[in-house]
Amino acid sequence: MKFFVDTADVDEIRELNDMGLVDGVTTNPSLILKSGRDIMEVTKEICSMVDGPVSAEVTATDYEGMMSEAAVLAKIADNICIKLPLTLDGLKACKALTAAGHKTNVTLCFSANQALLAAKAGATYISPFIGRIDDMAIDGMELIAEIRQIYDNYGYTTEILAASIRSVNHVKDAALIGADVATVPPSTLKALVKHPLTDKGLETFLADWQKTGQKIS
Ligand code: E4P
Repeated sequence: MKFFVDTADVDEIRELNDMGLVDGVTTNPSLILKSGRDIMEVTKEICSMVDGPVSAEVTATDYEGMMSEAAVLAKIADNICIKLPLTLDGLKACKALTAAGHKTNVTLCFSANQALLAAKAGATYISPFIGRIDDMAIDGMELIAEIRQIYDNYGYTTEILAASIRSVNHVKDAALIGADVATVPPSTLKALVKHPLTDKGLETFLADWQKTGQKIS
């Protein structure tokens, strides 16, 4: 499973990238707001730090506006992936941008039928939002399973990018179902390493090592 990091915070991306955990980055207008940075400047910096795709989202809602914003964003770097909303105009832009050789990420997916449309429009990635569905007391993970089955039924190559991840169990469950990618907030990505038995075992080893009076040098 590939890990994308869901943030526009360059310090967080650098830290995780140095551990080899970053296969790509996803941003959105809310994450740009949170970063306090200029979209062009911060996206360029992120693109220079990671080798994988960096999703940058258009904010226009009509086809022509999306295409014109996509042209600006695509100039930032070769690893830009154009993020488009799951609307009819977004699908039309997806089709045109994919045909022109750009990577595309169709975002704000909340149903299997929407995911089917994105695959037909040639999306590189479809982003189903697990956490926001869970927030409505509906199991978001079921959507990942439905999309996996539909894409496998017909051999669609659009990658399932599990998004709106809120917990370590979301990552595990999406991996078990076979999502191709999970885009994960930095704190959740770091939390994947945690296990109380690892901490307890390390504590015991260090205490015993002290008692040997030895040093590795
Ligand atoms: C990723 O592409 C999405 O923008 C992101 O995962 C949304 O997450 P949220 O629902 O926690 O805002």
